[in-house]
Amino acid sequence: MNKKNSITVSAPGKLMLFGEHAVVYGHPCVVTAVDQRMQVTVETLETFEFILDAPDVKVLNYKKQLSDLGKGEIPKGAKFVEIAVKNFAKKHGLKFGLKIITKSEFSSQFGFGSSSASTVCVLKALSVLSGKNLSEKKLFDLAYKTVLDIQGKGSGFDVAAAIYGGTLYFLTGGKIMKPLKIKKLPLLVAYSGVKADTVTLMNQVSILSKKYPKIINHLYQNIEETVDLAKKAMLQYRWLTVGELMNVNQGYLEALGVSTQKLSDMIYAVRDAGGYGAKLSGAGGGDCIIAIAPKEKIAAVKKSIVKVGGEIIELTTNAEGVRVE
Ligand code: MEV
Repeated sequence: MNKKNSITVSAPGKLMLFGEHAVVYGHPCVVTAVDQRMQVTVETLETFEFILDAPDVKVLNYKKQLSDLGKGEIPKGAKFVEIAVKNFAKKHGLKFGLKIITKSEFSSQFGFGSSSASTVCVLKALSVLSGKNLSEKKLFDLAYKTVLDIQGKGSGFDVAAAIYGGTLYFLTGGKIMKPLKIKKLPLLVAYSGVKADTVTLMNQVSILSKKYPKIINHLYQNIEETVDLAKKAMLQYRWLTVGELMNVNQGYLEALGVSTQKLSDMIYAVRDAGGYGAKLSGAGGGDCIIAIAPKEKIAAVKKSIVKVGGEIIELTTNAEGVRVE
Protein backbone atom coordinates (compact mmCIF):
# COMPACT_ATOMS: atom_id res chain seq x y z
CA MET A 1 0.00 0.00 0.00
CA ASN A 2 1.49 3.38 -1.03
CA LYS A 3 -1.30 5.69 -0.04
CA LYS A 4 -1.89 6.67 3.58
CA ASN A 5 -5.28 5.55 4.75
CA SER A 6 -7.10 6.27 7.97
CA ILE A 7 -10.26 5.03 9.64
CA THR A 8 -12.02 5.68 12.95
CA VAL A 9 -14.08 2.93 14.56
CA SER A 10 -16.04 2.96 17.79
CA ALA A 11 -17.47 0.21 20.02
CA PRO A 12 -19.66 0.33 23.13
CA GLY A 13 -18.72 -0.59 26.67
CA LYS A 14 -20.72 -3.33 28.42
CA LEU A 15 -22.44 -4.21 31.63
CA MET A 16 -22.99 -7.77 32.75
CA LEU A 17 -26.63 -8.09 33.85
CA PHE A 18 -26.84 -11.73 35.02
CA GLY A 19 -24.61 -14.80 35.04
CA GLU A 20 -21.02 -13.63 35.63
CA HIS A 21 -18.43 -16.28 36.55
CA ALA A 22 -20.80 -19.18 35.71
CA VAL A 23 -20.55 -18.06 32.06
CA VAL A 24 -16.83 -18.85 32.09
CA TYR A 25 -17.78 -22.51 32.73
CA GLY A 26 -20.35 -23.27 30.07
CA HIS A 27 -23.41 -21.44 31.43
CA PRO A 28 -25.29 -18.51 29.86
CA CYS A 29 -25.32 -14.84 30.82
CA VAL A 30 -27.17 -11.68 29.81
CA VAL A 31 -25.09 -8.64 28.86
CA THR A 32 -26.02 -5.19 27.60
CA ALA A 33 -23.96 -2.67 25.61
CA VAL A 34 -23.73 0.84 27.09
CA ASP A 35 -23.70 4.12 25.20
CA GLN A 36 -20.27 5.14 26.50
CA ARG A 37 -17.91 4.20 23.68
CA MET A 38 -14.29 3.43 22.93
CA GLN A 39 -12.97 5.16 19.81
CA VAL A 40 -9.96 4.00 17.84
CA THR A 41 -8.31 5.70 14.86
CA VAL A 42 -6.03 3.56 12.74
CA GLU A 43 -3.74 5.15 10.15
CA THR A 44 -1.69 3.06 7.74
CA LEU A 45 2.07 3.69 7.50
CA GLU A 46 4.49 2.95 4.70
CA THR A 47 7.06 1.73 7.22
CA PHE A 48 6.39 -1.64 8.89
CA GLU A 49 6.02 -0.06 12.30
CA PHE A 50 3.37 -0.38 15.00
CA ILE A 51 2.82 2.90 16.88
CA LEU A 52 0.27 3.24 19.70
CA ASP A 53 -1.07 6.23 21.59
CA ALA A 54 -3.55 5.26 24.32
CA PRO A 55 -3.49 8.29 26.66
CA ASP A 56 -6.40 6.98 28.82
CA VAL A 57 -4.17 4.10 29.94
CA LYS A 58 -0.97 6.17 29.91
CA VAL A 59 0.57 4.64 26.81
CA LEU A 60 2.22 7.33 24.67
CA ASN A 61 4.16 6.91 21.43
CA TYR A 62 4.74 3.17 22.06
CA LYS A 63 6.59 1.82 19.03
CA LYS A 64 7.90 -1.46 17.67
CA GLN A 65 8.39 -3.27 14.37
CA LEU A 66 5.43 -5.35 13.13
CA SER A 67 7.75 -8.38 13.14
CA ASP A 68 8.30 -7.89 16.90
CA LEU A 69 4.61 -7.82 17.87
CA GLY A 70 3.94 -9.95 20.94
CA LYS A 71 7.64 -10.14 21.77
CA GLY A 72 9.38 -8.69 24.84
CA GLU A 73 7.79 -6.77 27.69
CA ILE A 74 4.46 -5.21 26.67
CA PRO A 75 3.02 -2.35 28.77
CA LYS A 76 -0.32 -3.36 30.36
CA GLY A 77 -2.27 -0.65 28.50
CA ALA A 78 -0.89 -1.80 25.12
CA LYS A 79 -1.42 -5.55 25.44
CA PHE A 80 -4.86 -6.03 23.92
CA VAL A 81 -4.25 -3.75 20.94
CA GLU A 82 -0.83 -5.24 20.21
CA ILE A 83 -1.95 -8.87 20.45
CA ALA A 84 -5.08 -8.09 18.39
CA VAL A 85 -2.88 -6.70 15.59
CA LYS A 86 -0.53 -9.67 15.87
CA ASN A 87 -3.44 -12.13 15.63
CA PHE A 88 -4.93 -10.30 12.65
CA ALA A 89 -1.56 -10.24 10.87
CA LYS A 90 -1.00 -13.93 11.50
CA LYS A 91 -4.41 -14.94 10.19
CA HIS A 92 -4.89 -12.49 7.31
CA GLY A 93 -1.48 -10.88 6.65
CA LEU A 94 -0.70 -7.19 7.00
CA LYS A 95 0.87 -5.25 4.15
CA PHE A 96 1.31 -1.91 5.95
CA GLY A 97 2.45 -0.38 9.21
CA LEU A 98 -0.02 1.16 11.67
CA LYS A 99 -0.42 4.18 13.86
CA ILE A 100 -3.24 3.59 16.35
CA ILE A 101 -4.83 6.15 18.65
CA THR A 102 -7.40 5.06 21.25
CA LYS A 103 -9.76 7.38 23.11
CA SER A 104 -12.39 6.36 25.63
CA GLU A 105 -15.60 8.09 26.68
CA PHE A 106 -15.52 6.12 29.93
CA SER A 107 -12.89 5.54 32.58
CA SER A 108 -10.99 2.27 32.26
CA GLN A 109 -11.64 1.95 36.02
CA PHE A 110 -15.40 1.27 35.66
CA GLY A 111 -15.11 -2.29 34.36
CA PHE A 112 -17.05 -1.42 31.20
CA GLY A 113 -14.64 -3.52 29.13
CA SER A 114 -12.28 -0.94 27.66
CA SER A 115 -9.78 -3.65 26.70
CA SER A 116 -12.30 -5.78 24.82
CA ALA A 117 -13.87 -2.72 23.17
CA SER A 118 -10.48 -1.50 21.92
CA THR A 119 -9.61 -5.02 20.70
CA VAL A 120 -12.84 -5.09 18.68
CA CYS A 121 -12.27 -1.56 17.29
CA VAL A 122 -8.74 -2.39 16.12
CA LEU A 123 -9.79 -5.66 14.47
CA LYS A 124 -12.74 -4.00 12.75
CA ALA A 125 -10.48 -1.19 11.49
CA LEU A 126 -7.94 -3.71 10.13
CA SER A 127 -10.70 -5.76 8.57
CA VAL A 128 -11.91 -2.69 6.62
CA LEU A 129 -8.46 -1.21 5.80
CA SER A 130 -7.20 -4.54 4.44
CA GLY A 131 -10.36 -5.09 2.41
CA LYS A 132 -11.07 -8.41 4.23
CA ASN A 133 -14.41 -7.14 5.57
CA LEU A 134 -14.73 -9.94 8.14
CA SER A 135 -18.16 -11.10 9.29
CA GLU A 136 -19.21 -10.33 12.88
CA LYS A 137 -18.60 -13.98 13.85
CA LYS A 138 -15.07 -13.94 12.37
CA LEU A 139 -14.38 -10.68 14.22
CA PHE A 140 -15.66 -12.30 17.40
CA ASP A 141 -13.42 -15.36 16.97
CA LEU A 142 -10.27 -13.24 16.50
CA ALA A 143 -11.14 -10.89 19.37
CA TYR A 144 -11.97 -13.80 21.69
CA LYS A 145 -8.68 -15.49 20.79
CA THR A 146 -6.93 -12.23 21.72
CA VAL A 147 -8.66 -12.20 25.14
CA LEU A 148 -7.71 -15.83 25.77
CA ASP A 149 -4.10 -15.28 24.62
CA ILE A 150 -3.75 -12.54 27.25
CA GLN A 151 -6.00 -13.65 30.11
CA GLY A 152 -5.88 -17.41 29.77
CA LYS A 153 -9.60 -17.61 30.55
CA GLY A 154 -12.80 -15.66 30.01
CA SER A 155 -16.16 -16.20 28.36
CA GLY A 156 -15.96 -13.62 25.54
CA PHE A 157 -19.24 -11.93 26.58
CA ASP A 158 -17.58 -8.49 26.62
CA VAL A 159 -16.26 -8.92 23.07
CA ALA A 160 -19.73 -10.01 21.91
CA ALA A 161 -21.34 -6.89 23.45
CA ALA A 162 -18.77 -4.66 21.72
CA ILE A 163 -19.41 -6.29 18.33
CA TYR A 164 -23.16 -6.89 18.29
CA GLY A 165 -24.37 -4.22 20.76
CA GLY A 166 -27.91 -4.33 22.18
CA THR A 167 -28.73 -6.80 24.93
CA LEU A 168 -27.55 -10.37 24.37
CA TYR A 169 -28.20 -13.82 25.74
CA PHE A 170 -24.70 -15.24 25.53
CA LEU A 171 -23.18 -18.68 26.01
CA THR A 172 -19.49 -19.31 26.73
CA GLY A 173 -17.19 -18.75 23.76
CA GLY A 174 -20.03 -17.33 21.64
CA LYS A 175 -21.80 -20.70 21.21
CA ILE A 176 -25.03 -18.68 21.51
CA MET A 177 -25.19 -14.90 20.92
CA LYS A 178 -28.87 -14.12 20.75
CA PRO A 179 -30.07 -10.50 20.64
CA LEU A 180 -32.92 -9.85 23.08
CA LYS A 181 -35.56 -7.43 21.83
CA ILE A 182 -35.86 -5.21 24.88
CA LYS A 183 -36.74 -1.60 24.09
CA LYS A 184 -35.69 -0.06 27.36
CA LEU A 185 -33.87 -1.25 30.46
CA PRO A 186 -34.50 1.06 33.43
CA LEU A 187 -31.13 0.29 34.95
CA LEU A 188 -29.37 2.26 37.68
CA VAL A 189 -25.59 2.01 37.64
CA ALA A 190 -23.16 3.09 40.36
CA TYR A 191 -19.39 2.85 40.64
CA SER A 192 -17.79 1.59 43.86
CA GLY A 193 -14.61 3.65 43.47
CA VAL A 194 -12.53 0.47 43.38
CA LYS A 195 -10.98 -0.98 40.22
CA ALA A 196 -11.34 -4.74 40.07
CA ASP A 197 -8.91 -7.14 38.47
CA THR A 198 -10.97 -9.68 36.51
CA VAL A 199 -8.23 -12.30 36.15
CA THR A 200 -7.46 -12.30 39.88
CA LEU A 201 -11.15 -12.81 40.67
CA MET A 202 -11.60 -15.54 38.06
CA ASN A 203 -8.60 -17.36 39.54
CA GLN A 204 -10.03 -16.97 43.05
CA VAL A 205 -13.32 -18.53 41.93
CA SER A 206 -11.48 -21.32 40.13
CA ILE A 207 -9.60 -22.21 43.35
CA LEU A 208 -12.88 -22.30 45.29
CA SER A 209 -14.53 -24.52 42.69
CA LYS A 210 -11.63 -26.99 42.85
CA LYS A 211 -12.02 -27.14 46.62
CA TYR A 212 -15.81 -27.58 46.58
CA PRO A 213 -16.63 -28.83 43.06
CA LYS A 214 -20.06 -30.23 43.85
CA ILE A 215 -21.31 -27.13 45.66
CA ILE A 216 -19.94 -24.72 43.07
CA ASN A 217 -21.34 -26.72 40.15
CA HIS A 218 -24.79 -26.66 41.78
CA LEU A 219 -24.32 -22.96 42.31
CA TYR A 220 -23.49 -22.41 38.62
CA GLN A 221 -26.59 -24.42 37.72
CA ASN A 222 -28.67 -22.16 40.00
CA ILE A 223 -27.13 -19.09 38.38
CA GLU A 224 -28.13 -20.51 34.98
CA GLU A 225 -31.74 -20.88 36.14
CA THR A 226 -31.65 -17.31 37.46
CA VAL A 227 -30.33 -16.07 34.09
CA ASP A 228 -33.09 -17.88 32.20
CA LEU A 229 -35.85 -16.50 34.43
CA ALA A 230 -34.34 -13.01 34.31
CA LYS A 231 -34.17 -13.14 30.51
CA LYS A 232 -37.85 -14.04 30.34
CA ALA A 233 -38.82 -11.31 32.83
CA MET A 234 -36.80 -8.67 30.97
CA LEU A 235 -38.46 -9.56 27.66
CA GLN A 236 -41.82 -9.03 29.39
CA TYR A 237 -40.74 -5.81 31.18
CA ARG A 238 -41.48 -7.34 34.60
CA TRP A 239 -39.06 -5.17 36.55
CA LEU A 240 -40.04 -6.28 40.06
CA THR A 241 -39.10 -9.84 39.09
CA VAL A 242 -35.89 -8.66 37.42
CA GLY A 243 -34.96 -6.83 40.63
CA GLU A 244 -35.75 -9.85 42.80
CA LEU A 245 -33.62 -12.05 40.55
CA MET A 246 -30.76 -9.54 40.86
CA ASN A 247 -30.93 -10.10 44.61
CA VAL A 248 -30.89 -13.87 44.08
CA ASN A 249 -27.92 -13.66 41.68
CA GLN A 250 -26.12 -11.40 44.18
CA GLY A 251 -26.58 -14.08 46.84
CA TYR A 252 -24.78 -16.60 44.61
CA LEU A 253 -21.98 -14.12 43.91
CA GLU A 254 -21.61 -13.59 47.67
CA ALA A 255 -21.29 -17.35 47.99
CA LEU A 256 -18.54 -17.33 45.34
CA GLY A 257 -16.72 -14.79 47.50
CA VAL A 258 -16.49 -12.01 44.91
CA SER A 259 -18.58 -9.32 46.61
CA THR A 260 -17.01 -6.74 48.92
CA GLN A 261 -18.11 -4.66 51.88
CA LYS A 262 -18.37 -1.57 49.66
CA LEU A 263 -20.45 -3.37 47.01
CA SER A 264 -22.70 -4.81 49.71
CA ASP A 265 -23.15 -1.36 51.29
CA MET A 266 -24.28 0.03 47.95
CA ILE A 267 -26.56 -2.95 47.27
CA TYR A 268 -28.21 -2.67 50.71
CA ALA A 269 -28.54 1.10 50.16
CA VAL A 270 -30.65 0.30 47.07
CA ARG A 271 -32.81 -2.21 48.90
CA ASP A 272 -33.26 0.03 52.00
CA ALA A 273 -34.41 2.95 49.83
CA GLY A 274 -37.16 0.88 48.17
CA GLY A 275 -35.37 -0.47 45.09
CA TYR A 276 -36.58 -3.78 43.67
CA GLY A 277 -33.10 -5.27 43.72
CA ALA A 278 -29.41 -4.87 43.04
CA LYS A 279 -26.26 -6.86 42.33
CA LEU A 280 -22.63 -6.38 41.47
CA SER A 281 -21.88 -6.40 37.75
CA GLY A 282 -18.83 -8.17 36.33
CA ALA A 283 -16.07 -9.96 38.14
CA GLY A 284 -16.73 -8.43 41.58
CA GLY A 285 -14.07 -7.08 43.94
CA GLY A 286 -15.13 -3.54 42.96
CA ASP A 287 -16.29 -1.91 39.68
CA CYS A 288 -20.04 -1.24 39.46
CA ILE A 289 -23.37 -2.32 40.86
CA ILE A 290 -26.58 -2.37 38.85
CA ALA A 291 -30.05 -1.89 40.30
CA ILE A 292 -33.72 -1.73 39.38
CA ALA A 293 -36.15 0.52 41.24
CA PRO A 294 -39.75 1.67 40.77
CA LYS A 295 -39.91 5.12 39.10
CA GLU A 296 -41.05 6.93 42.24
CA LYS A 297 -38.12 5.55 44.26
CA ILE A 298 -35.29 6.30 41.82
CA ALA A 299 -34.29 9.64 43.37
CA ALA A 300 -34.26 8.15 46.90
CA VAL A 301 -32.27 5.12 45.74
CA LYS A 302 -29.64 7.31 44.07
CA LYS A 303 -29.34 9.46 47.20
CA SER A 304 -28.98 6.35 49.34
CA ILE A 305 -26.17 4.97 47.12
CA VAL A 306 -24.28 8.27 47.22
CA LYS A 307 -24.64 8.35 51.01
CA VAL A 308 -22.60 5.14 51.31
CA GLY A 309 -19.93 6.45 48.92
CA GLY A 310 -21.14 5.15 45.54
CA GLU A 311 -20.92 7.27 42.38
CA ILE A 312 -23.99 7.30 40.12
CA ILE A 313 -23.15 6.77 36.46
CA GLU A 314 -25.73 8.08 33.98
CA LEU A 315 -25.87 5.96 30.86
CA THR A 316 -28.25 4.24 28.53
CA THR A 317 -28.12 0.56 27.70
CA ASN A 318 -28.82 -1.40 24.50
CA ALA A 319 -26.23 0.70 22.62
CA GLU A 320 -25.22 0.06 19.00
CA GLY A 321 -22.35 -2.36 18.38
CA VAL A 322 -19.06 -1.66 16.63
CA ARG A 323 -19.30 0.88 13.77
CA VAL A 324 -17.10 2.85 11.41
CA GLU A 325 -17.44 6.53 12.28
C1 MEV B 1 -16.14 -10.34 34.20
O1 MEV B 1 -16.68 -9.09 33.83
C2 MEV B 1 -17.16 -11.43 34.03
C3 MEV B 1 -16.63 -12.83 34.23
O2 MEV B 1 -17.73 -13.72 34.04
C4 MEV B 1 -15.53 -13.15 33.24
C5 MEV B 1 -15.97 -13.48 31.83
O3 MEV B 1 -17.13 -13.79 31.60
O4 MEV B 1 -15.09 -13.42 30.93
C6 MEV B 1 -16.11 -13.01 35.62
